[in-house]
Amino acid sequence: MTSKQIEITNTLTAFIDGKLSKEDTADIIKNSSPVVLLKAENELFKSGMSMIEMRGISEIYYDIFIEDAKRTIKGLEKGHPIRLLMLEHMVIRNLLRELENVRDTISAGEGEVDKKVLRDLMHNMGEIEKHHQREENSIFPRLKDAGYWGRVAMMAKEHDDFIKHEILLMDLIDVFPGYTERLTREINYLVPLLRFHALTEDALLYSVALEVIHDWEIVNEEMEIIGYSKFTPVGNFKPMKKGDDGEDVESILERLIQYGKRKVKEG
Ligand SMILES: [Fe+2]
Ligand SMILES: [Fe+2]
Repeated sequence: MTSKQIEITNTLTAFIDGKLSKEDTADIIKNSSPVVLLKAENELFKSGMSMIEMRGISEIYYDIFIEDAKRTIKGLEKGHPIRLLMLEHMVIRNLLRELENVRDTISAGEGEVDKKVLRDLMHNMGEIEKHHQREENSIFPRLKDAGYWGRVAMMAKEHDDFIKHEILLMDLIDVFPGYTERLTREINYLVPLLRFHALTEDALLYSVALEVIHDWEIVNEEMEIIGYSKFTPVGNFKPMKKGDDGEDVESILERLIQYGKRKVKEG
C-alpha cells in the first residue's frame, strides 16, 4: 500500500469508529482520489467492515467526487460504454422520482393511484436489469482483476438486493390497494438503495474504470451482446453534437427523459 492509501484507510477507520467527524473526514478525503479510496476500502473489507458501514462512508464521497463525474461525462465520446451507463443513471434517477411521487400520493391518500401506472413504472424499472448485467459482466470483472474487489462485490450484492425487492414490489402491485403500507416500505427501501448505488458508481467506480480499463472496444462489443435497456441513448439518439461541450447535464437529462419515454412507449 502507498502512504496515501494507508492515510485514507486510517481516516475511514477513524470515521467509522466515531473518532473523526464527517467534515474532518471529508477534508482529508478531498485530497485523495477514487483509485486510492477503493484500494483503502479493500483493506477495510479485509478487517471486517460491514456493508452498512460502507454505505455510511459513501455519503462523504458524493459531494467531493460528483462534480468530477459530471465533467467526465462531458469529456467522453458519444457511445462510450461509461458515458451510456452514466446517462442511464440519469434516467434511473427520474424513474426513482416517479416512484417516490407514487408513494407520496399513496401516503397522502390523495386521489387514486392507477394500478396500470404503477405497473408501467415497474416495467420501466425492470429495464434497469440490462444496465446491471452490462456492469456485472463487463465492467466489474475488469475492476476486480485490477484489484478493486471490495466495492465491486458490494455493488454486485446490491444488484441482487435490487432484483429481490423489485420482484416483491411487483407482487404487491398485484394485490394493490391492499398491503399499501408494505408497498410504501418497499419503495422506501428501493429508492435510496438504487440512488446511492448509482451515485457510488458515478462518483467512484466509473472513474476508476476509466483509469484501469483500456480495451473499451471489446467492452463495447460485450455490451452490445448483452443488450441495452429500452431507455438507453444508443442508435439514433445524439446526446451531444461536436462542440456542444457547454451543454449542461440537466438539459441532456431532459432530452434523455423525453427520448426514454418515447422508446418505452414504442417498446
Ligand atoms: Fe450497478
Ligand atoms: Fe449503474
